[in-house]
Amino acid sequence: MASILGFGGYVPERIVTNDDWAARLDTSDEWITQRTGIKRRRFAADDQATLDLALEASRKAVADAGMEPADIDEIVLATDTPEMLTPDTAALVQHGLGCRNIPTYDLGGSGCAGFVQALDVAASRIATGTRNVLVVGVEVITRLISLEDRSTAVLFGDGAGAVVMGPGPGRASVLGAVSGTDGGSAEILTLAAGGTRNPFNATTLANGEFNRLVMDGRKVFVEAVRRMSEASLQVLEKVGRSISDVALVIPHQANKRIIDAVTSKLGLAEDKVYVNVHEYGNIGSATVPFALWEAVGAGKLVAGDLVILTAFGAGFHWAAAAVQF
Ligand code: ACO
Repeated sequence: MASILGFGGYVPERIVTNDDWAARLDTSDEWITQRTGIKRRRFAADDQATLDLALEASRKAVADAGMEPADIDEIVLATDTPEMLTPDTAALVQHGLGCRNIPTYDLGGSGCAGFVQALDVAASRIATGTRNVLVVGVEVITRLISLEDRSTAVLFGDGAGAVVMGPGPGRASVLGAVSGTDGGSAEILTLAAGGTRNPFNATTLANGEFNRLVMDGRKVFVEAVRRMSEASLQVLEKVGRSISDVALVIPHQANKRIIDAVTSKLGLAEDKVYVNVHEYGNIGSATVPFALWEAVGAGKLVAGDLVILTAFGAGFHWAAAAVQF
């Protein structure tokens, strides 16, 4: 069975508060706080890009596992905001960390569900003989979406999280995972320009399409609650456990109201659900591994704890994993 051997996380230093946004756009701390629970988020420095954040979190995870980069046998990296279109960010992490010429690949475009999907993929790779897999979730979302569109800009932040996984025993065992996709909902949450259908060009630049994140917030909200709740219960059933066994749920951190609705659907007390969205906003595929690293560092997870990781994102994709500390 695959285990988690080390944890890592990183957010850039620059803090952007709701009042900072209110000074720039037609919005307010009150609106953002009431609708999302977000108070502040981090922005990558001008000289930082996706690779820099990924390397920071990865180095911590590798060291936390008591390993050297040479011990890593494979890298799976989830991001919707890669360092460049090609090659993938995972290849750049392989070189930047100083790993051997191991296989690496990105899971791109699966939105905020990417890390939990990557963890599922890594667990199955380990089950078929791969040893140590570095799994990363990283985003520099604030660089690729419009900072003039108040309906999306205020929701996001930048950051990275990582784990090193390997065959057991480790700090926590991945008991099982579930995931699903509904590609028929793609247009509800999409950044359509930049691909082959609608490449970056003078037209997409002139009409502002190149960085326009199109989002039906209410539909995303409803589906995020439904899919994360269902996936959490499905993975518990898959591993033969029940919601009353769970010590902590670490859900994707998009919006406090989404988290509250999942908490209520699962019938959990508030202190059984991890929340840091007020501090960092939505950091896409990095929310779950970053929160996991933060929770472990704060001593919130001890031996015996059953933890559910669950996420939902563009696609739509969703996933949940059951992790036994
Ligand atoms: N400041 C002030 N007003 C704003 C802002 C803002 N930053 N953004 C939008 N508005 C306005 C809109 O223009 C609109 O005004 P109108 O009624 O005059 O047209 C109004 O606020 C929208 O109000 P509601 O539709 O009632 O807003 P809602 O309560 O649905 O909240 C929100 C919007 C926060 C986007 C919510 O739908 C949501 O969180 N949805 C989930 C979206 C999400 O998390 N996306 C992240 C990516 S996907 C993921 O991670 C799961």
